[in-house]
Amino acid sequence: MRVIVTNSYDEMSTEAAKIVAGQIYLKPDSVLGLATGSTPLSMYKKLIAVHEMIGLDFSQVTTFNLDEYIGMAPDNPQSYHYFMHHNFFDFINIKPENIYIPDGMAKDIVAEGKRYDALIEAKGGIDLQILGIGQNAHIGFNEPDIKFEATTHKVRLDEETIQANSRFFQTEEEVPRYAISMGIKTIMLAKKVVLLANGRNKAEAIYNTVCGSISPSAPASILQLHRDATVIVDKEAASLLP
Ligand code: F6R
Repeated sequence: MRVIVTNSYDEMSTEAAKIVAGQIYLKPDSVLGLATGSTPLSMYKKLIAVHEMIGLDFSQVTTFNLDEYIGMAPDNPQSYHYFMHHNFFDFINIKPENIYIPDGMAKDIVAEGKRYDALIEAKGGIDLQILGIGQNAHIGFNEPDIKFEATTHKVRLDEETIQANSRFFQTEEEVPRYAISMGIKTIMLAKKVVLLANGRNKAEAIYNTVCGSISPSAPASILQLHRDATVIVDKEAASLLP
């Protein structure tokens, strides 16, 4: 696992955008795994700028998002579908048919998980997976547990995650309790993984990811076993690292 400590959120985002842009230049038909949330927002803005300024071409790129809330329609402004379109996809030349996000409205979530994993496999697997991290070290919505959940599955969000996500909703009651998320095996099968974190509130999670024992109680710690994982953090998120 490689750890890159940057001076600021902006620098962290630049480093991440460089890796994504490099990936697309080297392999124009790359399959990207993408995350929502506050952390990758600036990386998306920078990639949009590279697209606008020097024509970074997304026309052959395929994307798979990590997760979606269950029961959230794609046109709901709180949905991860909406987030991705309004913060990234609407501003680049990706083909709509190459965008995949788990369907939180699916009647049968188990079948949706299987369909999603089969699609990823059919596209040749993920070349580069971008991850954020929860304060409890979740990746995707793989919450701390007694075992690692392998494939795309239904999750009950932790109280800590519900509280953290409530900043995007009027009240905490409105935060969905369930989500559908890529599993740990799906994430680990990505050829390259880049995990981003900024801010003091992520420091403990980053310490457990990089230095802690590998355990489903800190899901991101499994990335220590990945053959090509890079953790890019700002100074605050790195503050507990030795
Ligand atoms: C989002 C996701 C989550 C977030 C994590 C951090 O698709 O899978 O794991 O990456 O909750 O969220 P932020 O970046 O908002 O702190």
